[in-house]
Amino acid sequence: MQRIKQFSIIISIFLLSFASSADNTKADTPPLIRYNSIHHPTIAPNGMVVSQNKLASQVGADILKQGGNAIDAAIATAFALAVTLPRAGNIGGGGFMMVHIEETDQQFALDYRELAPELATRDMYLDANGDVDRQKAWFTHQSAGVPGTVAGMYLAWEKWGSLKWKKLIEPAIRLADKGMSVSYDLGTNLQNRLDRLTKNPITKQYLYKKDGSAYKAGEILRQRDLAKTLKLIARKGAKGFYQGKTADLIVADMQANDGLITHADLKNYQAIIREVVSGEFSVQGAENTADNYEIVSMPPPSSGGIHIIQMLNTLEHLPLKEAGRDTAEGIHLLVEAMRVAYADRSAHLGDPDFYDVPIEFLTSEAYGKQIASDIDQAQARKSSDVAPVSIAKKESPDTTHFSVVDKFGNAVSNTYTLNFSYGSGIMVKGAGFMLNNEMDDFSSKPGVPNAYGLVGSEANSIAPNKRPLSSMTPTFVFKKNAQGGKDLFMVTGSPGGSRIITAVLQNILNATVHGLNIAESTHAPRMHHQWVPDQVFVEPGISDDTVEELEAMGHKVKKVSTMGSIQAIQVIDGYKYGAADPRRPDAEAIGH
Ligand code: DON
Repeated sequence: MQRIKQFSIIISIFLLSFASSADNTKADTPPLIRYNSIHHPTIAPNGMVVSQNKLASQVGADILKQGGNAIDAAIATAFALAVTLPRAGNIGGGGFMMVHIEETDQQFALDYRELAPELATRDMYLDANGDVDRQKAWFTHQSAGVPGTVAGMYLAWEKWGSLKWKKLIEPAIRLADKGMSVSYDLGTNLQNRLDRLTKNPITKQYLYKKDGSAYKAGEILRQRDLAKTLKLIARKGAKGFYQGKTADLIVADMQANDGLITHADLKNYQAIIREVVSGEFSVQGAENTADNYEIVSMPPPSSGGIHIIQMLNTLEHLPLKEAGRDTAEGIHLLVEAMRVAYADRSAHLGDPDFYDVPIEFLTSEAYGKQIASDIDQAQARKSSDVAPVSIAKKESPDTTHFSVVDKFGNAVSNTYTLNFSYGSGIMVKGAGFMLNNEMDDFSSKPGVPNAYGLVGSEANSIAPNKRPLSSMTPTFVFKKNAQGGKDLFMVTGSPGGSRIITAVLQNILNATVHGLNIAESTHAPRMHHQWVPDQVFVEPGISDDTVEELEAMGHKVKKVSTMGSIQAIQVIDGYKYGAADPRRPDAEAIGH
């Protein structure tokens, strides 16, 4: 059955490559290079992989070169990142994959988010005083949701893969087994997290040297137990993780450490293909079709897609282009749109299998217009006037996004995570991989912020087999064409906790409203507002003058470090333009 399906996919992809190669690989016209720009994307005529780690981008690009499609390359990249980027790449976490199939012009939303174990309870993180026990919610075996990554990758392969499953995991196995040269980024990161990560003896054994010190750049890190687990997955598919030896190791680790995940939880885990959320967006003042776009993104249990569309629906009624990018006027309009979106998020968003999320209302043109009409273009509102206030705190920097486009025009936009950098910090004894701490994305107590300062309600309370609400926003932007159809224009996404949605929003606005190339758009300084706390966060690069003007309009501004790590691709006339976010040193766009 599966072979037949695979075979037919191979045939259709072959046909497709003949049918559409003229449209998707334009070697006859030169690519677009703006020599007046400081920032240039990586250009390729066929395919492109952009990820936060160059070794993993290379694995994906090699799969494209060998004739694999975007989905094959995405799967291989995801497994490679699980080895090369241990703080976010994973098999012990979960995420979301958006898939675009060029031949049929279909988009799919693959949900492989972690799930609360059967034994999870609503108040499991509350202590005797009814306060949230952060230590328990963040750094224990109980902080882990049932991992979804392997099930997600396997389902993607069953549906759309064209090469052999084993072939897609072999590069990751090699990197784990033979070892990889530690980069400055990885060495520094492991050194910075040494105290937290070496508290767990298993993590210390797997990610640190025998004497307990961090690997230095250029030294070789081998992950042999991880390689063994990957070999089982290569041989047995998803069953190599959710059943048999790997499952036994996970459950033994849970039982020895007061964890909740059982054999039944693992066996019952299902990745789900959901209906995408989409919305139209036109640049204000545009009179021709070239400036009309369609956004296709991730539905709940991610909040990302809904709020990107909601904010674009709002902003298209405001003079964003005239206000300009990185100006106080422009940032003010963004803040006021973000404020409402994050207020709505706190009340209305949760796992759609448990809670009726008002998707249609939130993404409707009419609601966006109404939000826009309530915005004072010169004066800041207070979040307490938009909805009840609460207090928040910091971001922990690591989830990871990658984007892939192949020579056939198919695309993948994938964001996956362990939640925090290195998740719970706990690695599974014998199996060599890190457990997520995704349970903290639930609202442990209504109104009390989680690690990203996000507050939630009943919609996102803990329940067995429920998925925690996410901000991950893997997204496609299509450009409407003169024939009434649409062409793939952008593939984008980012890590950054609550800041993901606003980072992706600005990446889209920079490339559409402000006309930047994808490198400029990705590199440009960003800002963020999430309703609570009532503060505008600005990156280095937003000028002091702008900050002063914002303050004069009534905003509280906080200068912060970098936010997000966008890995994006733009498609123009068949050329693929890749941009890896310079905010992460090992990120790279590799084309062919
Ligand atoms: O799903 C979410 O929204 C979070 N668990 C994402 C965490 C994240 O992006 C951390 N990295 N910056």
